[in-house]
Amino acid sequence: MNTTAQTVALKDLASASADPLGMPAAQDRSAVLEELILKDPGNFRVLTGDRPTGRLHLGHYFGTLHNRVRLQNLGVEMYVIIADYQVLTDRHVADNLTGHVEELVLDYLAIGVDPARSTIFTHSAVPALNQLLLPFLSLVSVAELERNPTVKDEIAHSRQSTVSGLMFTYPAHQAADILFCKANLVPVGKDQLPHLELTRTIARRFNDRYSASSAVFPRPDALLSNAPLLLGTDGGKMSKSRGNAITLAADADETARLIKGARTDSERHIAYDPVGRPEVSSLLLLAALCQNRTPEQVASDIGSAGAAALKKTVTEAVNEYLAPIRARRNQYADDRAYLREILREGNERANAVADRTLAEVRAAMNSHY
Ligand code: TRP
Repeated sequence: MNTTAQTVALKDLASASADPLGMPAAQDRSAVLEELILKDPGNFRVLTGDRPTGRLHLGHYFGTLHNRVRLQNLGVEMYVIIADYQVLTDRHVADNLTGHVEELVLDYLAIGVDPARSTIFTHSAVPALNQLLLPFLSLVSVAELERNPTVKDEIAHSRQSTVSGLMFTYPAHQAADILFCKANLVPVGKDQLPHLELTRTIARRFNDRYSASSAVFPRPDALLSNAPLLLGTDGGKMSKSRGNAITLAADADETARLIKGARTDSERHIAYDPVGRPEVSSLLLLAALCQNRTPEQVASDIGSAGAAALKKTVTEAVNEYLAPIRARRNQYADDRAYLREILREGNERANAVADRTLAEVRAAMNSHY
């Protein structure tokens, strides 16, 4: 980048940060951030994570996982939280928690998260992170928590008859996930933008109230991926609970079976038309993502050969793409001791960072006795 472009980019960055993070603003800013990351990956620390509720699927993979590994490989420092407390937002008991946590670690290793470079850890093992929740909650109003559109949506779709306090407060908890390690970059999908906005608010209010002279917390940025949305095999949102998802862990036969049963339409000529023919188009997109081609190219190869040919192409593309990921997954699958060791080390590193941040917070709040 030449100096002029650099000045412009930095100016854009400054002015974008003054805006509330609406979608278009977040998208523009993400483009600017991408440039800055390429230029100097060492300036960024990423925090990202998942709830341990089951195996990850292709929707997760092309939506965010792929992007995380890309950032890691560019040299960005990365923390990956397995949000085991957040599982309890919409259910009373986290079933098979240990199993789900280990499956997540396996999925991470399979896709190329490198535990030597990236810190994989769990909520419940990092007390100082959780303690940040208390001062953070004092910085937000009940009205702000009640207004969060993602939380509202989750409550509307929850199968629980009551809404727990954790459900309302988890976005503030997520702020602790992000700020304990002073992450300045959070790769997210649209639904997580309200949480990130709250995180930025909490960071700003904490700094204003307690550390005016030197900010304790950065105001982290959302990095929106421009990954297009993949549909499940029934044409709805891809989700494990709907039984329409192809997981990373599925074997080649199961993948073939799932794609064979996928919904298409009766038109023989295959064309990419996401609005008019969403199911066919999502299959084309999936093959395209796996083959690093455009969906239009995939469609034109199939032409008028119909849905059966489309499904054959998609099955081969997915199985070929996932083969090395699945091989790595199988390689570690029987080594539970190794998975535990990765978590133990990750938790140890996360605790050291969280203890340091909490000490700073207590000093800033004059509660360091
Ligand atoms: N809420 C995220 C999800 O449901 C998971 C998560 C927990 C997270 N803590 C986070 C994501 C911090 C980004 C940053 O997928």
